[in-house]
Amino acid sequence: MAQQISSEDQRSLVDRLMSACGGSYSPEVRRRLFISGPQWAAAYRGQALFHAPVRRTLSADEVIRNFAEIGIGFWTTHDMDIIPADELMTGRQDEILDSVARSLRKYGVQCSMVTGETFFSPVWAASPAGEQPEIRAYATKRLQNVVDIGHRLGASFVVYWPGTLGYQLQGVIDETLMLRRYAELLNAACERDLQVSQSTGRPWMRHCLEAKPFEPQAEILLPTTDAMLNFIASGLLTHPEMVGVNPEYLHELMWGGAPRAALARALLAGKLWHFDINDGYRLKHDVDIGIAMVNPLDWLNVLILLRRHGYNGPFNLDYKPPRTTSEYGVFRVSFPSAVDRFITLWQIAGEAMADPVIGEATEALEAGAGASGTSNGEALFEANKELWTLHELIGHRLVQILLGQHRGRIFVDLKP
Ligand code: GLC
Ligand code: MN
Ligand code: MN
Repeated sequence: MAQQISSEDQRSLVDRLMSACGGSYSPEVRRRLFISGPQWAAAYRGQALFHAPVRRTLSADEVIRNFAEIGIGFWTTHDMDIIPADELMTGRQDEILDSVARSLRKYGVQCSMVTGETFFSPVWAASPAGEQPEIRAYATKRLQNVVDIGHRLGASFVVYWPGTLGYQLQGVIDETLMLRRYAELLNAACERDLQVSQSTGRPWMRHCLEAKPFEPQAEILLPTTDAMLNFIASGLLTHPEMVGVNPEYLHELMWGGAPRAALARALLAGKLWHFDINDGYRLKHDVDIGIAMVNPLDWLNVLILLRRHGYNGPFNLDYKPPRTTSEYGVFRVSFPSAVDRFITLWQIAGEAMADPVIGEATEALEAGAGASGTSNGEALFEANKELWTLHELIGHRLVQILLGQHRGRIFVDLKP
């Protein structure tokens, strides 16, 4: 029987095996990329519909200190992650923000993004854009307060995941009305941003919409990044130039989309400003698994696309450490390994972009067979058909590069 590990010995076992894994980067290297860690991800207690919490609540100071040690240079937060409901928009909020700003300075971490909670509290039961004017007035104040918090903490991005913008029962609300009302809320937030930016001289922030196809309403009015892009261009926003998108990798998989294609569409629209990175399974729930634990090849391809097009916004680690991971494990295994998988894939993406085989194959495909004088479809097909085999060859090469096989295989175990 394997030797049992007493509770006192478990942490050192985890540390020893983590360092045996190798492949980790120094905090200095990790800080070179624009990687941000959410307060809510680190402080996630493992609770869900069918799950009791498994970890303690963590303060912003604890999370920021741990991020600094790991080398996560940016921190993101919801208003309610740091300010209790009854202290929002009170003098107590100012004290809390002062103390968070002190922690950020002390540990050398920057706040890159703030977001408002418009999905959890009972007041959002019928969405922040429902019928009653007083609910919308409160939502307006809350969103404007998020803008104030952002300026106060030095953020450059505001994210909106509307969450409850939708309904459980069809036919009760008029969708066009709810969308117009949601646009008014965003307009008020942008107006507030412009005011604050004028009075402080800080640049206005980038307001990024995040879609999720289902949960927590039965029907969601803006379920995909494409729907968000369409909404930005609908004419309902008074400052569409201030509004872009924050796609979340898993949220695109949840509706069956290809995240890379969704990102490409946002890039073409000039609206890919912020990106929530994680992983999970297609057409299932929002499990928020750490990046590349499920779809490493797709992740490699996503990073190739983003590197090729010079995406320079944040990569926000919006995942949830599993319930089986302890608080110690959250900062010793979960966050550092997520960051390191990301950096490794970033590097492999660079390698794939410089790969001579892929390079030559791509060039050959772009060049074509030299049959441009032919206007017969069948003849054109015949002229090009051997070139198209390169599609599969490139696919094979990408898998080889991901697996390190292009450098030769070292482990051989071929039994007869
Ligand atoms: C919630 C969502 C997450 C989103 C965040 C920002 O935590 O689960 O996906 O990015 O809010 O509003
Ligand atoms: Mn997200
Ligand atoms: Mn998610």
